[in-house]
Amino acid sequence: MTADFHEITSAEDLIPLHPDRNIALELVRATEAAAIRSVPFIGRGAKEAADGAAVDAMRAFLSTVDFDGVIVIGEGEKDDAPMLFNGEHVGTGRGRAYDIAVDPIDGTSLTAAGRNNALSVIALSDRGTMLDASTVFYMDKLVTGPAGVGVVDIRLPIGENIRRLAKALGKPVEEMVVSVLNRPRHEQLIADIRETGAGTRLMSDGDVAGGINAARHDARTDMCVGVGGSPEGIVTACAIKALGGHIQGRLWPRHDEEAQKGIDAGLKMDHVYEADDLVAGSNTIFVATGVTDGALVEGVRRQGGYVYTESVVLRGHSGTLRRISSDHLESKWF
Ligand code: FBP
Repeated sequence: MTADFHEITSAEDLIPLHPDRNIALELVRATEAAAIRSVPFIGRGAKEAADGAAVDAMRAFLSTVDFDGVIVIGEGEKDDAPMLFNGEHVGTGRGRAYDIAVDPIDGTSLTAAGRNNALSVIALSDRGTMLDASTVFYMDKLVTGPAGVGVVDIRLPIGENIRRLAKALGKPVEEMVVSVLNRPRHEQLIADIRETGAGTRLMSDGDVAGGINAARHDARTDMCVGVGGSPEGIVTACAIKALGGHIQGRLWPRHDEEAQKGIDAGLKMDHVYEADDLVAGSNTIFVATGVTDGALVEGVRRQGGYVYTESVVLRGHSGTLRRISSDHLESKWF
């Protein structure tokens, strides 16, 4: 009997998988720090303060990491964002050159309200591989797990995609669950999903977690669709590479002026960006630490003299999702 697996016979076989293993763990320290620093603001109605604390902490930790990172997706343009702005170099400058996307808190409103699903996120890929979609704020997205690859397509009506995916998953449409941001712009989309017999999971915010949850093998949702942030689309693509799932995006400019800005920056409107257009290649790393509880990770919390964090690390190269739980001595932080 022969087994079908990627053969590893010597240490050399591991070398292509090897160079950036450690950097993934370094990056977790940065998302952990951002989550920990946001603790005093969780559920306190202080959206900007939570984000500011997370940004400061993430930047401080990133500056100690041995890599040459350029922020492709950050907090915005230099003049509006004092730190982690697009184009800023981060890291010590030693080591490999990477593109980096940061979202110190995805779900600032969730954090302020103390609602589920806020994450602190960093994604990384080889230099020059991440799409810079920062000129167009929104992107229409379609995310599924591996069963959707070659089966669903963002150009098809949602009902058709749901039926095709249900068939590929071998379950009735009535058991399908589709997550979508609860926004007025999705009124028709939500109605169309329900029309098929499938159920919806309406998210108040946080479509990075929504996308990843739809692609995980042990997920409770089968698909994540609709219009959310463009940066979140790129970040999600980095994670989907490790999960073997499907992701497509199509820019969704709010007005002609924004569309023109995008075109001037080299972006294509009415164009379907496939996973490899959003982030090219498989050398992606995605790390996230829970700010508030969610289906992907538990939220950060102070308990008995410690601060507990839970994080995930997804590596495209190896196709791995790892969970890291850490107890941090509270007196070192507060
Ligand atoms: P913030 O943390 O930056 O507020 O983003 C939260 C979020 O829900 C994203 O996950 C999502 O992609 C985007 O906002 C949707 O934008 P909007 O709230 O304008 O519909």
